[in-house]
Amino acid sequence: MFGKPKRTVALDIGASSIKLVEVERRGSKSKLAHCAVAALDSDAIVDGEVMNRPAVVRTIGELFSGQRIQRRRVVSGICGRGVIVKKIAMERMNHEEASEAIYWEAEQHVPYGIDDVVLDFKILDTDIGPSQMQVLLVAAKRNVVMNHAEIVRESGLIPDVVDVHSFAVQNVLELNHAPEPGQVVALLNAGAEITNICIVRDGTPLYTQDISTGAHRLIHAVQRAHQIPRREADEAIRGASNGKIDISPLLDEFCRELSAGLDKSLIFLRTAGDADGIDRVVVSGGCARIPGFLERLRAAQSVPVEQIDPLAEMEIPSGTLDAQEAPAIAPQLAVAIGLALRKGRGE
Ligand SMILES: Nc1ncnc2c1ncn2[C@@H]1O[C@H](COP(=O)(O)OP(=O)(O)OP(=O)(O)O)[C@@H](O)[C@H]1O
Ligand SMILES: [Mg+2]
Repeated sequence: MFGKPKRTVALDIGASSIKLVEVERRGSKSKLAHCAVAALDSDAIVDGEVMNRPAVVRTIGELFSGQRIQRRRVVSGICGRGVIVKKIAMERMNHEEASEAIYWEAEQHVPYGIDDVVLDFKILDTDIGPSQMQVLLVAAKRNVVMNHAEIVRESGLIPDVVDVHSFAVQNVLELNHAPEPGQVVALLNAGAEITNICIVRDGTPLYTQDISTGAHRLIHAVQRAHQIPRREADEAIRGASNGKIDISPLLDEFCRELSAGLDKSLIFLRTAGDADGIDRVVVSGGCARIPGFLERLRAAQSVPVEQIDPLAEMEIPSGTLDAQEAPAIAPQLAVAIGLALRKGRGE
């Protein structure tokens, strides 16, 4: 009745941990067939750049063998400074013509040589004024994409699709949180080294920006202020120090900084005439697990702030993910699950 089930393996290579999921889809239903997270040393990936490739490759290998996943094709994603997502206006033309013209267009919008980037695009609106159309341009630095694909290959896998983390989070929003038509939603995926901001309306990204901040910055600040080892600072931000270390003022500052990032994106939207305001903020990534994080963001933002739930509409067979652990880990799985749920994916 629902057709053949399709399975997709997705990999989120993050600075603090690698997440691996396998999702089975049948019609509109999805099931989490496999899910595993493996921590990385904090110096393995810095600011989105892989510094210790053997450690990353080994960890990916361990995740696959631990889960006994046979499938080798994976969907993975990139983010950070090497990825640029921009809404641009260009002369109206069909898709085929646009795939040629996009190179010329990109030259005006991308601060890298055109030979140094990999381009993709989507026509968003075929009619935005006299003979103009609106296009979402995605440009990624060629060496970022190549390095990423090479790590996947070195891990014995086949890089089937390399997507963008922000778009993965957007998939999760649409499939689990059903934004109302016209609603402007700010997605804040705050991880260890990078925070992805993506503002969407009606399934279209209005603004996408990655900023170089995350939980590691807070951990460093706690370490410095309290003169404690990194491990203790890490525990403190997870609320595991039994209140011995007061991180409040530093967490205040960290949340203010992220909130300012959202405000900045709103200014950008207003200036571009794309939206007057944000209706809702949806938070994902490991920072959402920091006790007090969401409350502070709520205090700083005048609109509802909620946590993402990538598992909301998903069947979780017993043994895949500990039922008690699932709600806590869910925000960290947003990218991996969103990558697995890309439309038209799976086999
Ligand atoms: N209870 C918790 N469990 C795990 N991580 C937590 C917890 N609370 C806070 N964190 C922080 O969340 C961060 C991990 O978040 P996330 O998994 O989203 O990042 P990442 O994807 O590995 O990194 P990035 O996206 O920046 O490359 C860690 O730096 C960790 O300190
Ligand atoms: Mg991440």
